[in-house]
Amino acid sequence: MKNLFSLSALAIILSILTACNTGNGNNSKNAKLQTPAAKVSDEKQMAPEEAKEKTMSDLQEAFKGETTASAKYAAYSKKAEEEGLHNIALLFKAVSTAEKMHANNHKSVMTEYGVAIPEFTPEFTVKSTAENLQDAIDGESYEIDTMYPEFLKDAGNSKSQLAQISFNYAVEVEKKHKVMYTNALAALNNNSVQELPKAYYICPTCGNTYDQTPPERCGISMTSSERFIKINSL
Ligand SMILES: [Fe+2]
Ligand SMILES: [Fe+2]
Repeated sequence: MKNLFSLSALAIILSILTACNTGNGNNSKNAKLQTPAAKVSDEKQMAPEEAKEKTMSDLQEAFKGETTASAKYAAYSKKAEEEGLHNIALLFKAVSTAEKMHANNHKSVMTEYGVAIPEFTPEFTVKSTAENLQDAIDGESYEIDTMYPEFLKDAGNSKSQLAQISFNYAVEVEKKHKVMYTNALAALNNNSVQELPKAYYICPTCGNTYDQTPPERCGISMTSSERFIKINSL
């Protein structure tokens, strides 16, 4: 009985091996097995020096982006006030203040790394408040979905911790800005601008922006809310 069992078992193993060595199933199985290895070898790993250089230029680009955003939102604030949209003017002023903090953080990191601070004049166009809000939503979306994820990856590759902190502070705050601008545009379209928040609180460390009484500590940088900047007038 024992021999019979062994023979049957051997026959089953042989039939499985034969099946595995013939037909398309085997090829596709091997192809699947090879995929992860092929993927790894296809991915270009940036050399440390190259990654460092990329992070330094990322910091310069982020600084220019944040400086431009701050100046642009300040101009959009004035335009909203001219259109009689006071609560939207307050929002633009609050976010302009937050973007200034992002720019200052990037600047501090560049100084620490010995990178040249770009000198430039911000360029932007002021349109109607509805268009300005859409432009702001598009700008925040670009930073959230494209720019900062790429910069964070570069900073990780080059092990530039200060750049990682500064980029991370900014991207987390941009997510809140996008929501605030989206709500403001909806309010403008629904004729309910007067119901929008009338006071904002900005964290001086990371630019975190609250449209209601903030918690004891900033939800991003843990800074005491006693140090927050309150914006409730233009
Ligand atoms: Fe920002
Ligand atoms: Fe922002």
